Amino acid sequence: MKTSIRIVGAAAVLSLTAAIAHSAVENEAVKARMDSMSTIGMSLKTLGDMAKGTTDFDAAAANAAIDAVAAEAATIPTLFEPQETDPESEALPAIWENWDDFTAKAGDLETAATNASGSIASVEDIGAAMQAIGPTCMACHREYRE
Ligand code: HEC
Repeated sequence: MKTSIRIVGAAAVLSLTAAIAHSAVENEAVKARMDSMSTIGMSLKTLGDMAKGTTDFDAAAANAAIDAVAAEAATIPTLFEPQETDPESEALPAIWENWDDFTAKAGDLETAATNASGSIASVEDIGAAMQAIGPTCMACHREYRE
């Protein structure tokens, strides 16, 4: 049971963590928000790799990854507030048409990550944290990312 929860949690975020090169992005504001999202994505990948056993379990590294997500989530409203665009950007105009909802969804991620902060003592704990955090990524991407 625990194993299947872990695998579902890991699979749910795999689509979120594809590495993307930002060298083609010219707009600095767009690059900054993409870099922040990449940091969030890499942190989830760190957790997912441990959950799958691809990398060795490391409680300190797992908790640090969750704290990194919480810290980056707190910067989302500031990073996205300027309505900047770039040919490489996947941000939809709906962000600025529904700004309150967008920032609420950023708050949902921050809350989920903050609540999970320090919660990882064993590899089994990673699944629960990813189950809490992953849906908040999806909820925002579904509406606001191409
Ligand atoms: C409040 C909304 C919101 C939340 C919450 C959110 N994202 Fe994003 N994310 C976006 C938007 C918008 C983009 C597109 C930004 C752009 O291309 O300008 C994006 C882009 C990305 C990218 C691609 C970055 C790149 O290099 O272009 C990754 C990876 C990503 N998000 C991962 C995640 C993960 C993992 C989570 C949850 C832990 C998450 N995001 C939570 C809105 C959000």
